[in-house]
Amino acid sequence: MNTIYTQVGIVGAGAMGRGIAQIAAQAGSTVLLFDTQAAAATAAQTAIFSQWDKLMDKGRLDAAQVADYKKRLLCASQLNDLAVCDLIVEAIVERLDVKAGLFAELENIVSAKTVLASNTSSLSITAIAAKLKRPQQMAGYHFFNPVPVMKVVEVIAGLKTDPAICKALSEYARQMGHTPVAAQDTPGFIVNHAGRGFGTEALRIVGEGVADFATIDRILKDQAGFKLGPFELMDLTALDVSHPVMESIYHQYYEEPRYRPSVITAQRLAGGMVGRKVGEGFYRYEGNVAQVPAEPPVPQVDEIPPVWVSPRAARRAELLQLLKNLGAKIETGQSPSPLALTLVAPLGFDISTVAVVERLDPARTVGIDMLVDDAATKRRVLATNPATRSDMRDAAHALFARDGKAVSVIRDSGGFVTQRVVATIVNIASDICQQQICSPQDLETAVTLGLGYPMGPLAMGNLYGPTNVLEVLFNMQTVYGDTRYRPSPWLRRRGAIGLSLLHVEA
Ligand code: NAI
Repeated sequence: MNTIYTQVGIVGAGAMGRGIAQIAAQAGSTVLLFDTQAAAATAAQTAIFSQWDKLMDKGRLDAAQVADYKKRLLCASQLNDLAVCDLIVEAIVERLDVKAGLFAELENIVSAKTVLASNTSSLSITAIAAKLKRPQQMAGYHFFNPVPVMKVVEVIAGLKTDPAICKALSEYARQMGHTPVAAQDTPGFIVNHAGRGFGTEALRIVGEGVADFATIDRILKDQAGFKLGPFELMDLTALDVSHPVMESIYHQYYEEPRYRPSVITAQRLAGGMVGRKVGEGFYRYEGNVAQVPAEPPVPQVDEIPPVWVSPRAARRAELLQLLKNLGAKIETGQSPSPLALTLVAPLGFDISTVAVVERLDPARTVGIDMLVDDAATKRRVLATNPATRSDMRDAAHALFARDGKAVSVIRDSGGFVTQRVVATIVNIASDICQQQICSPQDLETAVTLGLGYPMGPLAMGNLYGPTNVLEVLFNMQTVYGDTRYRPSPWLRRRGAIGLSLLHVEA
């Protein structure tokens, strides 16, 4: 196979370097692996060889292929050996001074045409290249862990990078079986920037005492279709990796409130409860299996009171149909009778505010999240306000669980769990588009492949309705008085005129 780069050098043979070395060799390049710790390069070589042997045992590779790959994966004993390379990918310690020093040294070893690439996840490519003689030869090439499985790579242009180099790196990514996405050199690039919405908003919800970790994970999996809940994901990634990323992006954006990290992860990191790999994170692990607290049972309720639905409820017709299907007695008066369970379904507003504005009795008022089409979700989410009576809460819980669908009851919050997390994800994605960090299509690809979300963030916004997402954000901004919920102008414009978030401007 003819690859764009025939000789590829990898500096740093840790978790990332070995993954990149593996796919580069598989693409047909000859790979030279260098590490300051000589044992690290040979250990990486051994690990990759055994990967290939396993794939051969499974029948996914044949013996000739494996022999060919092995012949082309070599260890270099000194940096000078990389002089022959036409591409060098760096995957060493995440420190600007060390990376900049390495590239300056490499520049004196390699030819003027050699492409230099950094796998940095959080440093600026422009800053790493700033002191180079040929900054136009240097680009970001950001892979994800584990490299052979995570089939996306961000190709990042620094301020002086030659666009032809990014084009060639993108082509080479395809030769390695990966999908390239083009990103501007900005904090977190695409994936680590777009990923801020999920975990940080979930942490904020926990921090407010609205719901516990396990409930939030259940809601986001069952109601919004995420494969892993945010706390399961943080346990998997481990807080020693993810908390510094949250801090770094927040500070690099000059304390932009949208990216504000949480004291919850800071404290857990300090306490060593970093996740699955140490057996304890948000969940405890026994034999690598998360110990998930049992879900609260559906309360036993002898008689369910009649139900009155606010005329301002989101998806009101659907909600009334659902209540009918569940066998509820529905009141049709202008206001609720003195016995009625009063249902509201706000977007972004808290239940207390709605009860006051609509002049309802807060003691009998319960909220339901109707952002998501009931038919499309495996869980219904109800919210109380501080005055809600327990009999009303339990009646609502029992009623909505009548057909066997799971129900979670959370405390009052501006926006329910799914509304908050979805709106935050869509808003941050919209801001990425506003800043022209990447194309909307590359954003969708990067997030779907890099974060494993059920769909891209813009498609998510379209699914729930840009106007609804905008309404959630406007109202949350009012409830919290916090600029982190300020809608991005990009979303605001599209929401205002009811346009698809994937619409490409002429
Ligand atoms: P690692 O700690 O597993 O491996 C780093 C390797 O680089 C070690 O073997 C070390 O001996 C070697 N090294 C350190 N300084 C060196 C130098 N000056 N010259 C040559 N070798 C040197 O680290 P990992 O996780 O592979 O990360 C490497 C880079 O990739 C970092 O910049 C990191 O931010 C980035 N990255 C990491 C991801 C991850 O999930 N681990 C994901 C995406 C990017």
